[in-house]
Amino acid sequence: MIPVKDTYIAACSLTPFIGKGHPDFIWKKHPDFGTKENLDLEGYLKLALTDLFGQGFDPKLVTRGYVGNFAGELFNKQGHLGALVPRVMPELAGVGVGRTEAACASGGIALMSAAEAICAGHDVVLVAGAECQTTVSAREGGEYLARAAHFQDERPIDDFTFPALFARRIKAYHEKYGLPLSDLAHFTMKAMENARKNPLAHMKANKWTFEAAAEGGDHNPQFLGNQELKDYLKVSDCSQVTDGGAALLLCSEEGLKKLGVDKSKAVKLRSYHLATNALGQTEDLTRMDTAGLAFCKTFNDGNVKVDDINVAEVHDCFTIAELLMMEAMGLEEPGKGVEAVKSGKTKLDGSLPVNTGGGLVGFGHPVGATGVKQAAEIYRQMKGLCGDYQIKSQPSLGVMANMGGDDRTCFTALFENMG
Ligand code: CAA
Repeated sequence: MIPVKDTYIAACSLTPFIGKGHPDFIWKKHPDFGTKENLDLEGYLKLALTDLFGQGFDPKLVTRGYVGNFAGELFNKQGHLGALVPRVMPELAGVGVGRTEAACASGGIALMSAAEAICAGHDVVLVAGAECQTTVSAREGGEYLARAAHFQDERPIDDFTFPALFARRIKAYHEKYGLPLSDLAHFTMKAMENARKNPLAHMKANKWTFEAAAEGGDHNPQFLGNQELKDYLKVSDCSQVTDGGAALLLCSEEGLKKLGVDKSKAVKLRSYHLATNALGQTEDLTRMDTAGLAFCKTFNDGNVKVDDINVAEVHDCFTIAELLMMEAMGLEEPGKGVEAVKSGKTKLDGSLPVNTGGGLVGFGHPVGATGVKQAAEIYRQMKGLCGDYQIKSQPSLGVMANMGGDDRTCFTALFENMG
């Protein structure tokens, strides 16, 4: 799709992404345990919106809003999140705000809905995303997240359903192409090294080494119960169970004027695509065909080739997902996805830096916020706001790919720096 009205990101905000292993995450061995509590879902939404409008924008200019969230009812006993927005930002009372849900692509769908609201006539639209998942153990959360798979058919695979679905992909890819399992540690290390440079990242204090990430063991558990898949996935291959929020303002050219943002300070949404395929019916485990279709349409509509892109945010819910995304976007041939990172191409100083703030493995994965964060990260790289992980040459074109389920939904968007 090409937006029929020019559509821009005018501003964005990101909360810290926090969970187990983050120095500020409150748990029973934290010195503040008992006196301080972790933020809840409402707290993250409030923080993201307060920071966004605190940059000097009048909330009264917003006429529509969308909040991406996957499972507030389960993790937080809270649904109806559109109406949570005016609770945390009273100036937005009366504005129409809805929630979007497409599993881990919930944030991407919020962005898409906002873009389509601009084309329908709105000038300033709020896009937010939040998820707070640390209210339960990773095993219990595994059951909640399994609702993003086909629950009846795929839940029995393992208590940790999504880790098992991607272990199944690692196994299939390993059997087809002979990829050494230790090679996936190249993706882990890129994510962890980038996260160390990112003060907002869940894994900012990580001490992973390549050697530790390459081998399973007590330091890097192969934690699946499914005996056929257990050897194929280590903790270091997984994204994090993270709490966090993100927000941005999407607007028309008229909206930019109302907000007082010069076009040169904005990022244009040049093209986008949403693709969906049947739950529980992945045809080829060694490919991400839904993502491939979404990239292809977005690149065609945006009139670009993969070599034109300067920065990318892709959905690395597991290391194998980033590898397959590299193939789906056409950066590497099928079977050669690992070369993207091994060659240095996708590192911060490479020709196409990917997941510069650490991605879902390093920055963290507060499910409903992830797609909004991806767009925000491209904006931040284009505007030189990424501090120690800022890439050297200012990107002109950036792409994001936000996936729901096991490549069942994929939202891709191409952005252009206006100045
Ligand atoms: N050997 C075997 N098992 C071990 C072990 C060892 N040496 N050491 C620990 N374990 C077991 C533990 O027993 C534990 O299970 P229980 O405590 O419940 O019995 C299990 O491994 C996990 O250990 P922890 O709970 O201590 O680990 P953690 O809290 O650090 O979590 C993780 C690690 C399980 C990998 C967790 O980070 C995780 O679940 N990550 C993935 C999150 C996820 O799936 N997100 C969704 C991605 S999919 C997507 O993006 C698309 C979509 O639409 C959903």
